[in-house]
Amino acid sequence: MVLRVSYILVVLTILSLDHRISQATSRVTFQEPSIAQYFQQWMIQFSRVYSNDSEKQMRLEVFKKNLEYIENFNTKTNQSYKLGVNEFTDQTKEEFLATHSGLIRGINITSSSEAVDESMSSWKWNVSNNVGESKDWRMEGAVTPVKQQGKCSSCWAFSAIAAVEGLTKITRGNLISLSEQQLIDCDGEPNEGCRGGTMEEAFTYIAQSGGISSEYAYPYQERDGTCLSKAEPAMQIRGFQYVPRNNERALLEAVSMQPVSVCIAALAESFSHYSSGVYSDPACGIAITHAVTLVGYGTSPEGIKYWLAKNSWGETWGENGYIRLRRDVEWPQGMCGLAQYGSYPVA
Ligand SMILES: *[C@@H]1O[C@H](CO)[C@@H](O)[C@H](O)[C@H]1NC(C)=O
Ligand SMILES: *[C@@H]1O[C@H](CO)[C@@H](O)[C@H](O)[C@H]1NC(C)=O
Ligand SMILES: *[C@@H]1O[C@H](CO)[C@@H](O)[C@H](O)[C@H]1NC(C)=O
Ligand SMILES: *[C@@H]1O[C@H](CO)[C@@H](O)[C@H](O)[C@H]1NC(C)=O
Repeated sequence: MVLRVSYILVVLTILSLDHRISQATSRVTFQEPSIAQYFQQWMIQFSRVYSNDSEKQMRLEVFKKNLEYIENFNTKTNQSYKLGVNEFTDQTKEEFLATHSGLIRGINITSSSEAVDESMSSWKWNVSNNVGESKDWRMEGAVTPVKQQGKCSSCWAFSAIAAVEGLTKITRGNLISLSEQQLIDCDGEPNEGCRGGTMEEAFTYIAQSGGISSEYAYPYQERDGTCLSKAEPAMQIRGFQYVPRNNERALLEAVSMQPVSVCIAALAESFSHYSSGVYSDPACGIAITHAVTLVGYGTSPEGIKYWLAKNSWGETWGENGYIRLRRDVEWPQGMCGLAQYGSYPVA
């Protein structure tokens, strides 16, 4: 009984953001549904169809396990964040990670001292620079709606494109959704489309190929395709810069100027179930696997400093597709290693 009530609490907490579902939850509370019934509702919400009953049974088991994990976590006291149900809750950790990442591992990324062009204007790394207490590039119209990479390991393309979209708004005054698919199809070795890539290569491709098309002209296909060379560019960049490594202060200055692509370690189970709050799980480590775009920073009402990151896992994950990650941690690489490989496009 206690267990069942707590599951209902999870349901209420998680789904209260969703208007359609909050109506359903009030019904739920009276009927005290089993997990199987809740699963059935979840399937409807996400239009999930399984090929047969044994597949469905297996998914229900995975769902139950994930729900237990979420519930156990959320009952712990004093956590700065919550976990919740999202469209991935019927996947095992392994299945999820197989597609929800996409950084080429072990790639040689030039060290920041080599990459930073000292002739760049001095505001870049001037620690005396006045940086505001908080920043949210969404409020300045520099962030497009959250996208969904789907079953393609293209986080690198989404991370780079969000940074270029921000730069487009900042330098030209208009926000245009740009094409991840062009990067997947056209940006060859060492990038590998839906098998992974890096943002540095993506920025270099855009700079060297004459620009990047709009999302409208070159829409996302969620799979590798043939490069459409005729696509009209909507934005051009000159190149990219690295943020000095393992320096959250330098990262702060960079994000105060424009959205910044970062690599993060996203293997911790808590990460895939993240639902709200300031994420702070040292278990994520610093071994980078995924890429997101930092689009702001601030301090939570509880006084916890955070980075605001735009992810590419749709709007049901995290805070409507975003995650806040703890900022100014005790180790230089940053929460989930986010301060190791920051980079941003230059107009
Ligand atoms: C049920 O569907 C799964 C996944 O499509 C498949 O692997 C399995 O063989 C199917 N089982 C039966 C009994 O049809
Ligand atoms: C709760 O978390 C805050 C901030 O992380 C910490 O300062 C405080 O000591 C914690 N309290 C308990 C009881 O663990
Ligand atoms: C990275 O660079 C180092 C030294 O430049 C080299 O020894 C190593 O093999 C390179 N690793 C990869 C994965 O290319
Ligand atoms: C950078 O810092 C130096 C020394 O603190 C200061 O003199 C200079 O004006 C600063 N430059 C900019 C662009 O803020």
